[in-house]
Amino acid sequence: MTETKTDGATLAPPVLILLGPPGAGKGTQARMLQKRYGLVQLSTGDLLRAAVAEGSEAGKAADKVMKSGGLVSDDIVIAILRDRLAAPDTAKGVILDGFPRTTVQAEALDDLLAESGQQIDAAISLEVDDEAMVHRIAGRYACAACGEGYHDSFKQPQVEGVCDVCGASNMKRRADDNAETVAERLAAYHRQTAPLITYYEKRGALQRIDAMGPIDEIATTVSRAVSKATKG
Ligand code: AP5
Repeated sequence: MTETKTDGATLAPPVLILLGPPGAGKGTQARMLQKRYGLVQLSTGDLLRAAVAEGSEAGKAADKVMKSGGLVSDDIVIAILRDRLAAPDTAKGVILDGFPRTTVQAEALDDLLAESGQQIDAAISLEVDDEAMVHRIAGRYACAACGEGYHDSFKQPQVEGVCDVCGASNMKRRADDNAETVAERLAAYHRQTAPLITYYEKRGALQRIDAMGPIDEIATTVSRAVSKATKG
């Protein structure tokens, strides 16, 4: 990814947001962008699951809410993201996967970025049908060692049970990937997160992408949107 403009001025590292309901493919596309552009994927879902696994106070508070399918409180999520954004690796640029999810979080992100003279380059909205999402989530699993994502129908490893990327043979499914919790996660998305589409559209930062096709085709469209948004 370009780091200097043709006139020699330094470009700020890219900040991209992937918006979309559960199962839209945010994590899938974020990992592909990470490989392609060397950006860092920041998934608040992953950060919260790590906090739960550590047993920190924030993790304990988040655990119950995540199991119900609701949104963890803005205070907890913003604090976790602020800490992660302060790590040196984010200087390469970031893809925010699952953050912001409320208007309060979007405003907090603007403030955090402003502290280092940055702003978002694009909010990419992955648009899918609710029914397709339930199928995508129900069939999803991942490598416990490296996090590579798989799906019973759409993306199986070359050797059953063995990760294509790291070779580990320990696949896991998420505790909140069940029909009841997915319904609440979808409801939370429509109630609290969907308004962010208008928030970013009004700022001219929104790029809508039809995310119902094959993963590779969507990746091509997403890459095109990223190149357009980050062109110096
Ligand atoms: P989080 O971990 O962010 O989950 P989510 O938003 O529900 O999103 P998912 O990870 O389920 O889906 P995805 O869009 O990444 O899709 P994926 O690429 O995996 O959040 C979990 C919980 O944490 C929340 O419910 C909340 O409680 C809490 N939380 C997190 N962030 C928060 C915040 N900011 N504020 C408050 N609370 C927060 O794809 C799904 C499956 O489909 C995969 O198997 C994949 O292989 C497959 N797939 C992907 N694309 C395609 C395609 N084009 N065609 C066919 N299959 C596909």
